[in-house]
Amino acid sequence: MTKTLLVTGGCGFIGANFVRYLLNREADVRIVNLDKLTYAGNLSNLADVAADSRYRFVHGDICDAGLVGGLFAEEKPEAVVHFAAESHVDRSISGPSAFVQTNVVGTFTLLEAARNAWLDGSAEASLRRFVHVSTDEVYGSLGATGYFTEETPYDPRSPYSASKAASDHLVSAYFHTYGLPTVITNCSNNYGPLQFPEKLIPLIVNNALHGRELPVYGDGKNVRDWLYVEDHCAALWTVLNQGVPGETYNIGGNNEKQNIEIVTAICTLLDEMASPLPGGKARTSLIRFVKDRPGHDRRYAIDAEKIRRELGWEPGTTFEEGLRRTISWYLANGPWLQGVLDGSYQSYYQTMYGGR
Ligand code: NAD
Ligand code: DAU
Repeated sequence: MTKTLLVTGGCGFIGANFVRYLLNREADVRIVNLDKLTYAGNLSNLADVAADSRYRFVHGDICDAGLVGGLFAEEKPEAVVHFAAESHVDRSISGPSAFVQTNVVGTFTLLEAARNAWLDGSAEASLRRFVHVSTDEVYGSLGATGYFTEETPYDPRSPYSASKAASDHLVSAYFHTYGLPTVITNCSNNYGPLQFPEKLIPLIVNNALHGRELPVYGDGKNVRDWLYVEDHCAALWTVLNQGVPGETYNIGGNNEKQNIEIVTAICTLLDEMASPLPGGKARTSLIRFVKDRPGHDRRYAIDAEKIRRELGWEPGTTFEEGLRRTISWYLANGPWLQGVLDGSYQSYYQTMYGGR
């Protein structure tokens, strides 16, 4: 029987990868994608599936209660996979308001619509899972040792992570109070095709490709745990099918790297894979250490043992393979990259990095 999934934020980086992942693998899945098309949402990310009869795009805001409630009534989704969010930490520092609006109020609006569908739905039409896609940043910052587990107390430190923490708590409350079959996933840093070039890896790829300076915050020794986006998609599909309502699952790549290691690896790969810079200069010569991000979390590292043990998911892509695939994708998709480097990106870049 065909399952209808309501996906929010399906035109963003992870959402678009997830929609493509499912439509390419699962014949009996139908996806309704609700996306506001902010600067981070891009219709061309799903151009190749737009005509698929199992796909419907709805342009709209998750904060619009009428629209969201109407979609639940019309589509009777069996599951929700909630990606829609403001996702970039630096933007949350310069302008937190949109983060509270979309991440907190938007998640609340969606939960209310899901609650109505859950309580009112006839047995065969009612919602079976609400998967809330969240982040490891809710746990705060680690020192040199230790890992985030599902029991680590929340300690968000940026407006972005605070808004995601608030949304996690609302989701959890709807499970405990109303019995809504929610599952929360807290995932580490993703990378791969279709990532907007405000995030470290695509920003460095784009700048290094074009011989521009490579901004590394602080001493470059902050650590992130990197996961190839397709592995995250597989984890989410596993959680959607096997996750236990009320539970949280940490998702990580078991792949800790200092930022400077990442930037150096990108330079080395681009020297090998792309046209040489003028004079044959090595791309590492473009690295610049710049003013640090305020409140910059030092280290994130996920203990993903629970999802491995209970649901059998493990990352399948090594960092070396994933980074090479990512760079190949950006090299092969120049028009996509040019398309997102529009006027608003230029002014964002100037505000964020000009004179930094
Ligand atoms: P993104 O910024 O690339 O995409 C966000 C998408 O949400 C865009 O398509 C945008 O148009 C849409 N959107 C924003 N506000 C909306 C609104 N009010 N109504 C409807 N749509 C709206 O984000 P991403 O990196 O793909 O992240 C997706 C989710 O995964 C987010 O919830 C994020 O917190 C979480 N997450 C991201 C990472 C990561 O490394 N990128 C890691 C862990 C968790
Ligand atoms: O951990 C999961 C989170 O990972 C997600 O919830 C967020 O949505 C996602 O944006 C990401 O957050 P980070 O802040 O870790 O990602 P970002 O790519 O912005 O930065 C990665 C690291 O690189 C971080 O330590 C800051 C540093 N950095 C980033 C940029 C953009 C630089 O040194 N220079 C840069 O220009």
